[in-house]
Parts: sequence; structure tokens; C-alpha cells
Amino acid sequence: MYAAFRSIGAYVPSRILTNAELEVMVDTSDEWITKRTGIKERHIAAEGETTSDMGVKAAELAIERSGLSKDAIDMIICATISPDYFCMPSTATIIATKLGLNKVMAFDISAACTGFVYALSIAKAFVESGMKKNVLVVGAERLSAITDYTDRGTCILFGDGAGAAIISQTDKQSEAIIDIHTGSDGAYADLLMTPNGGSGSVHDELDREAAGCFMKMKGNETFKVAVRTLTNDVVEILEQNNIPASAITHFVPHQANYRIIKAVGDALQLAEEQVVLTVEKYGNTSGASIPMAINDIYESGRLQEGDLMLLDAFGGGLTWGSALVPFSGKGIR
Ligand code: UT7
Repeated sequence: MYAAFRSIGAYVPSRILTNAELEVMVDTSDEWITKRTGIKERHIAAEGETTSDMGVKAAELAIERSGLSKDAIDMIICATISPDYFCMPSTATIIATKLGLNKVMAFDISAACTGFVYALSIAKAFVESGMKKNVLVVGAERLSAITDYTDRGTCILFGDGAGAAIISQTDKQSEAIIDIHTGSDGAYADLLMTPNGGSGSVHDELDREAAGCFMKMKGNETFKVAVRTLTNDVVEILEQNNIPASAITHFVPHQANYRIIKAVGDALQLAEEQVVLTVEKYGNTSGASIPMAINDIYESGRLQEGDLMLLDAFGGGLTWGSALVPFSGKGIR
């Protein structure tokens, strides 16, 4: 049995936060943000709109596009660092219930911006072992709930949104997810962390800044480790699988910073059309960024059945991961 990447969906909240608006909130400029990150705008969830609400919308689209009946889903994994509740219940169980699936195995994983790649590796293992047939993998974030809008080092970067994919059993090797690499190094934990708290938690009445509920990042150090780690990781996964970079149809990196993506793309000598870029319009949506980017090329008609994707992520933990994934759904023309 093999695991195939069968379908994709995403959801983006309608409210847009522009660089011009951020200029009024903190000491920054559109020019600085654009030059240093490539970000022009990010989307922000509506009041009362939770991570699970966004995850459900992305999941419904992915299920519909898979052609499967909802009841065929037998496991749900949600990658998020901004869960509805601090400790429990998991956002995945809330998504399951909102989808009307009350008996499936459902759980969250916490691997920050690498969350979707980690969740994909878990889905692949369950499907290949025959334990599950159709796994719904959701990456959903309401990062605005854990962003300090007085800290110019982080608030210019992050946005909200969700993406979802269906990973299904197949007996066709040509459809199989080829390989997934994952790693972590907790020695760098302090580079990017949320000292406390969680979105939608009972701490809402607290001074969230004082309680350490917001993300803190040592941006420049994180940047350097990200470029080094991601470059090594993608070179290694391609070499180990004997696949030249030219065979990649779509390089879909975590959308943290245009300069990081460019450095890794240049190291692989990728052509511009191979590199998927959404950072300009969504900012950094952590665990949601890769499935949101895949959904973008799907909806624009660029993603077709048989296309080979190279996914690549890096985030708090520190964690990282890459994956070689053929698209096995029907593209839109
Ligand atoms: O998604 C998970 C992983 N996350 C990442 O991979 C993010 C990695 N880091 C980054 O993307 C970049 O490091 C940032 C975009 C966060 C910062 O860019 P940078 O080129 O590394 O800038 P820097 O932190 O070295 O700061 C350069 C200067 C500093 O001023 P001085 O000390 O040179 O006077 C900062 O205080 O830019 C200043 N600065 C800003 N200026 C205007 C920092 N943030 C801002 C800002 N607007 N928003």
C-alpha cells in the first residue's frame, strides 16, 4: 500500500491587514517590510472566528475535491500552534465534530511552521501500514491571537488562514508520496517561542503580554539557521532519492520570508516558475502556509495530476522537514 496526496483545499479570512495599516501601529514602513520579507498584506480572522472554523472550511473543500464521501475520512490530524483551546480539547476533535465526524481518531500536532510536513509524515505512515485509508491533514492558524501588535519584529510577519489535504491509500506506486524528511533541535528553542498561553484559552481576561502569551522571535538568528537548515535538507532529500532539482514541478516552501525562499531556490538552481510564492499576500501562516500555497497553484490551474512537489518547512522548536510529493488529484484547467 502507498499513500497518495489526493486533494487540497484552503480558506482565507476576508479581512486584510496591509503594510500601510501596520505603519500606523508600529515604527515600520511598507518599504522595509517589502524589502526584508516580501510581504505586502496578511489576512486576519474575524472576531469569534476560531482556528477550527477556518480548518473546517478548508477541510470541506478538500473533501469535496477528493470525490470521497465525508464518512470515508478515518483520521484527522491538525497542525497548529494557535489551537482553539490551550490544552484540550484538541482543535482536530473540534474540526471532526463540526464536520459531523464523531468517531474518527483526531489529534493535534505541535511542530510550528513545520507542522504540515510533520502531519503529512504521520498520515503517510498510517496509510502505508494499512491502519487508515483516508487521512484529513489540516494546517490551521489564528496567529493574530498570539501576535504582539506592539512588537515590530513579529507583527509584520504573521497572518491567519487554513489549508487541508486528503492522504489516501493507493496501490499505484506512481501516485505514492516518495519520501519525507523531518528533524528538530530543541537547543534552539529560545529563537522562536510563545512562553505561555493559547488562543481561545481561559487566559483571555489576563494581560496576555505580561503573561507571556505572545510569540517572541530572535528574527535574524532564526533567519540564518533557516537558510542553512532548509538548504541542506532539500539537497539531501533530492540526492537520497536520485531526483534532480529540474524534475520538480513545484517547489512549495513554508512562506516565512521571500529572502529565505530565494536563497534555498537559488541553491537548488530552480527556475522562477518552479517556485511557489504566496508570502506577499498571506504573510507567514505557520502550519497553514504550505497547504494554502498548494491550494493557490491548484486554484490557478498550475497544479496538475502527476506534478511533483517539493515541500520544505522550518519553524519553532526548532523543527524542519521536506517532502517529495506527487499530486494525485485531478487538476482544474
Ligand atoms: O516561520 C518560522 C521561521 N521564521 C523565520 O524563518 C523568520 C526568520 N527571520 C526573518 O524573516 C527576518 O530575520 C526578519 C524579517 C524577522 C527581520 O529581518 P532582518 O533582515 O533579519 O532584520 P534584523 O532583525 O537584523 O534587523 C535589522 C534592523 C534593526 O535595526 P538596527 O539595529 O539595524 O538599527 C531592527 O531593529 O531593522 C530593524 N527592524 C525593523 N525596522 C522597520 C526590525 N523590524 C523592523 C520593522 N520595521 N518591522
